[in-house]
Amino acid sequence: MKMRFWINFVLVVTVVCMPGCKKKTPTPKEPEVKEIRLMSAQKESFGQTSDGRQIDLFTLTNTSGLRAKIMSYGAILVSMEVPDRDGNLADITLGFDTLDGYLAGHPYFGATVGRYANRIGKAKFVLDGVEYELAANNDENHLHGGVKGFDKVVWKLEDLRSDSNEAVVKLSYISEDGEEGYPGNLACSVIYTLTKDNELKFSYEAQTDKTTVINLTNHSYWNLAGQGDVLGHELTLNAEKYTVVDSGLIPTGENRSVKDTPMDFTLPMSIGSRIGRVEGGYDHNYVLNSSGLLARAAAVYEPTSGRVMEIYTSEPGIQLYTGNFLDGSLTGKEGKVYNKHYGFCLETQHFPDSPNKLEFPSVVLLPGLKYSTETVHKFYAR
Ligand code: BGC
Repeated sequence: MKMRFWINFVLVVTVVCMPGCKKKTPTPKEPEVKEIRLMSAQKESFGQTSDGRQIDLFTLTNTSGLRAKIMSYGAILVSMEVPDRDGNLADITLGFDTLDGYLAGHPYFGATVGRYANRIGKAKFVLDGVEYELAANNDENHLHGGVKGFDKVVWKLEDLRSDSNEAVVKLSYISEDGEEGYPGNLACSVIYTLTKDNELKFSYEAQTDKTTVINLTNHSYWNLAGQGDVLGHELTLNAEKYTVVDSGLIPTGENRSVKDTPMDFTLPMSIGSRIGRVEGGYDHNYVLNSSGLLARAAAVYEPTSGRVMEIYTSEPGIQLYTGNFLDGSLTGKEGKVYNKHYGFCLETQHFPDSPNKLEFPSVVLLPGLKYSTETVHKFYAR
């Protein structure tokens, strides 16, 4: 009996195993493909202006895959690609795929704005006893440097480099005495730096040969989801006051507390939660609690993607503008239609109309002195 069992056992095992028990030749293991990303700063052509000027596009990439594209026309931030909580990259700025989109006219998408960002009341100011008249390009007021501000000029490449810590592009522009009505030849530069720590730094420098006023900023429209409206974005502002404005959005001179009003973002609040109670939507300059040193001014969290953008600045103010004038008439990147509130701006700056409001922090630049400000955007996901 025992013997029969063993004979059967051996037979069954042999039959069952015969075809499959051949020693499997191990399939060669696919070599693990690890994308090695290096910090890099590259240049390519982005086309030509109508008067035949070559426009360059600079791409800064860091080791985590963040990618910032900047062009020499308007020193515009064309795109900023940032990962979400699952590592998926999306471009989180509004703009166009081609240079022609920018040349056709747009509300300062990604632009470097100057010589004076924001509004100057009645388009004039007095400096050293002389009255200077500027273009009234926003009803009776002057907005974002005039008819042809720094956003519409071609900037010169000064530096394009990368090392293991950062990728940098430095662009310069000389604004001549009298340009758009402003006094003094102004030599200015903007330096974009993408760091290995997922920061995009905006550094501005300028010098003048005659007393002038200056207020430079970047006017990017952000959308941390990469699409749709921004009403669900949660915003925190390190500001307990804002500058009250009249119907033309010119400050009255009063800095009012945000407490118990829809203007309060001292704790995280979605942009859309109280926007209906703010006539026209947010378009206000906040008075930052700490100024002068690079300090945290704002943080924005987008719940669906998990993306976070923190903003640090040396400037005393920040303009919150919620894309109130976007009306669906512009079609941007990848055919996206830009409707109302599809992007928000957080423009670090001196206060609007400072040349006419001596009680505000000064925007006067004297010959021999150096204008130097810095704003840092830090990106991560949670
Ligand atoms: C201003 C808005 C303006 C927008 C586009 C923002 O900085 O505050 O009033 O409509 O720029 O020009």
